[in-house]
Amino acid sequence: MDRYAVTGHPIAHSKSPQIHTAFARQTGQDMSYEAILAPLDGFAATVQAFRAGGGLGMNVTVPFKLEAFALADRHTPRAQAAGAVNTLAFGADGILGDNTDGAGLVRDLKINLGREIAGRRVLLLGAGGAVRGVMLPLLGEGPAVLTIANRTVSKAEELVELFMPEAGDVRLSASSFDALAGQQFDIVINATASSLADEVPPLPPGLYADGALAYDMMYGRDDTPFMAAALADGAARVADGLGMLVEQAAESFALWRGVQPDGGAVLADLRRQIGAG
Ligand code: ATR
Repeated sequence: MDRYAVTGHPIAHSKSPQIHTAFARQTGQDMSYEAILAPLDGFAATVQAFRAGGGLGMNVTVPFKLEAFALADRHTPRAQAAGAVNTLAFGADGILGDNTDGAGLVRDLKINLGREIAGRRVLLLGAGGAVRGVMLPLLGEGPAVLTIANRTVSKAEELVELFMPEAGDVRLSASSFDALAGQQFDIVINATASSLADEVPPLPPGLYADGALAYDMMYGRDDTPFMAAALADGAARVADGLGMLVEQAAESFALWRGVQPDGGAVLADLRRQIGAG
């Protein structure tokens, strides 16, 4: 049977085995998918051992996405732009590194949430790896405006400089949180780590345009603090990042197997479980 796995540290709570097993069933693919804990100083050895045992591909999660980038022999353009890899495909010609996070976000926004990105005003909060990882696919959708706002403005400015050559007609700019005052956006995406500390980025009020969506890359059983704050500030709709998790997996699956699974059905199942859990 064709073998795949996810590796990270920690890994026990990863939902990837469940998601990929559901995709395999749905598309009739004969494959297995397991979770493998890599020691913090043993990422490359873990990958090589899985590959030597016949593994065909791996997903990579925290904290190894940069090491996975370094380990890959070749990179897709979106992995190159992200500077990080969440998907490895093993072939006769070496290891291909891909990054499906941005495509997963875009698919969740467009397919599961029914949001057009083209021509819209998009605000990204944060300027770390999570933001860099989604920049190229987001720009590729052709929003009218893409603003990166971060607590440390210089980091947002560095990202803008890095991606300006890919911006085309998109009005790409960096901002502090304060300087957002008076502006409005159609989609606001929280990619800061603030939710981990149960905090919310200090945003000025009135950011949400009519019908706007507030999207948190984090997820949990209940609305995140960011989602609650967005609703209080007039966002028409809020969403967490569970759909992005499912859709980045769907993109990895498609890369490996050449078949695009239906993320929506798997997302609905996961949502029911988390709600019941
Ligand atoms: P990731 O890979 O998840 O993006 P990271 O590279 O450590 O992680 O980036 C964390 C991001 O969350 C940064 O944009 C950080 O802002 P700074 O660059 O100013 O540090 C942001 N962040 C973390 N805690 C935050 C908080 N309490 N409020 C607002 N932003 C926060």
